[in-house]
Amino acid sequence: MIIAIDGPAASGKGTIARRLAAHYGLPHLDTGLLYRAVGAGALEKAVDFEDVDTLAALAGALDLSALDPESLRAGPIGEAASRVAAIPEVRAKLLMLQQEFAHQPGGAVLDGRDIGTVIAPDAPVKIFVTATPEARAARRHKELVGRGEDVTPESVLDDIRKRDQRDSSRSSAPLIAAADAEIIDNTALDVAASVAAALAIAERRRPR
Ligand code: DC
Repeated sequence: MIIAIDGPAASGKGTIARRLAAHYGLPHLDTGLLYRAVGAGALEKAVDFEDVDTLAALAGALDLSALDPESLRAGPIGEAASRVAAIPEVRAKLLMLQQEFAHQPGGAVLDGRDIGTVIAPDAPVKIFVTATPEARAARRHKELVGRGEDVTPESVLDDIRKRDQRDSSRSSAPLIAAADAEIIDNTALDVAASVAAALAIAERRRPR
């Protein structure tokens, strides 16, 4: 069974994906980490964000087993990830990797922006997780401060809005709910309630 979970930055889709993966005993891929790894590589090697060939080469050389989620979740990398994610050549390099992960025997849980629309349009369970930009910014701010980053609530909200705008308006695989996805707006829900809503959807839609 493939479970596709999409949604904007800091919507809680990663938490939901991890909980569903644990519940069903399925492997999980946070596809944002792939774009973050390319973005981090670009920052580290000072690659120009217009240099499509070099960025695509970075994407082509990614090794799934070498991704370090902790370091890739640092603040500035999100912005770089969003920029490289708008480049079709970068997305093309990451497509097969994600499709192979999704279609492994037994299934998988993937979370990202285009899982239900591009990576696994055949997924029986598709969930689009969202919340207001203010609610998502408040969560992200708390997370970043907890990691010791020095950020203001305003700058985090500004960053979330910029990323929403870029992720939704790009021409290649924009952030959009699949027509057959079920939406969870968790603005007013806590983690337990969001996970329970997602589990209820998965139970209803999973093949038996
Ligand atoms: O979910 P995240 O914040 O870790 O994602 C980082 C960036 O990667 C996000 O701004 C958009 C991009 N992304 C994407 O375009 N497609 C995906 N499937 C996952 C992430």
